[in-house]
Amino acid sequence: MKALILSGGKGTRLRPITHTGAKQLIPVANKPILFYAIEAIRDAGIQDIGIIVGDTAEEVRNAVADGRRFGVKITYIQQDEPLGLAHAVLIARDFLQDESFVMYLGDNLIKSGITKLVEQFKQESPNSQILLAHVKNPNQFGVAELEDSRVIRLEEKPKKPKSDLALVGVYMFDKNIHTAVRSIKPSKRGELEITDAIQWLIDNNFKVLPHIVTGWWKDTGKLEDMLEANRMMLDLYETDIKGEVDANSRVEFKVVIEEGAIVKNSTIRGPAAIGSGAQIINSYIGPFTSISSGTQVINSEIEHSIILENCLIEDVGIKIEDSLVGRNVEVKKLNEKPKVYRLLLGDNSKVGLP
Ligand code: DAU
Repeated sequence: MKALILSGGKGTRLRPITHTGAKQLIPVANKPILFYAIEAIRDAGIQDIGIIVGDTAEEVRNAVADGRRFGVKITYIQQDEPLGLAHAVLIARDFLQDESFVMYLGDNLIKSGITKLVEQFKQESPNSQILLAHVKNPNQFGVAELEDSRVIRLEEKPKKPKSDLALVGVYMFDKNIHTAVRSIKPSKRGELEITDAIQWLIDNNFKVLPHIVTGWWKDTGKLEDMLEANRMMLDLYETDIKGEVDANSRVEFKVVIEEGAIVKNSTIRGPAAIGSGAQIINSYIGPFTSISSGTQVINSEIEHSIILENCLIEDVGIKIEDSLVGRNVEVKKLNEKPKVYRLLLGDNSKVGLP
């Protein structure tokens, strides 16, 4: 069995971070989302993984390389335009051959992993099996209708959903999906939809089974979802302090401080993660915050946020909360008169002022 991870696409809802980087590489609890997918696939016993890459191919390649450090073998498949999830299957034909495979959307996080799904697929040998979850807002997802424990209809982001069962971004297929993706036409939004390809399987009497997840999962496409995912993952960690914490600092509850990080005269209240080489000085880091490696926080307070690599947050008078800050960002008090805001913001940035 093989795996196909989708790590292309545009990530429009997370701009400006995704102007310059892959959304699948944004860290949750200081680990890129994509790495959770690779580990879940490996833990389900699959080593041969194809990754669909788009504009951010180079960044993904640099982060994942040949996969050896995860104990898997990675093949990169270039998708020139994000023409849909079924298009990704179409262009992965040579890699997939006639083997069954799991398709995993690289921006999804599933706490319980996919081992049970893969085992059930191997045991029951349907033509496809789809991961579903009960949600409150089904119109934002692909939605499935079930009858007698089979999937009978799928609809992509319906205005009037017929059930509350959303397609979680993990799917199992046998070789018949290749005929399906060649048989469908692009949808109104111009994409070859995987929901249409699975509907084609159903309409042509192939067996499509549901697998309902009861545990936590998240499509991390939006800021709030990303912060929730960070909260969820940090909560699973146990305290592990490898960096330096001076005698004037307090570290409370579950806190991970990686090697080379320095905490001076500060309070870190977990769940929180401080990356390697980060410096927290005269500051407060509150619950559900991830500070990535190389970032400096000086005379400032941050809570419920994700701060990426090599930022400088200095002398910020009011607590920073519910925020996602990209790489190499500087947020710093100006000691000048008159008092002014001086901004250099990328397209689609958002600043909330008190
Ligand atoms: O998250 C679950 C949902 O994912 C499902 O409920 C929907 O049925 C399914 O269509 C999908 O919807 P999204 O609108 O969230 O898909 P998105 O465009 O965000 O793409 C999902 C991932 O696949 C993301 O990591 C980017 C990647 N991708 C996407 C497209 C369209 C590609 O690699 N190539 C593509 O052409």
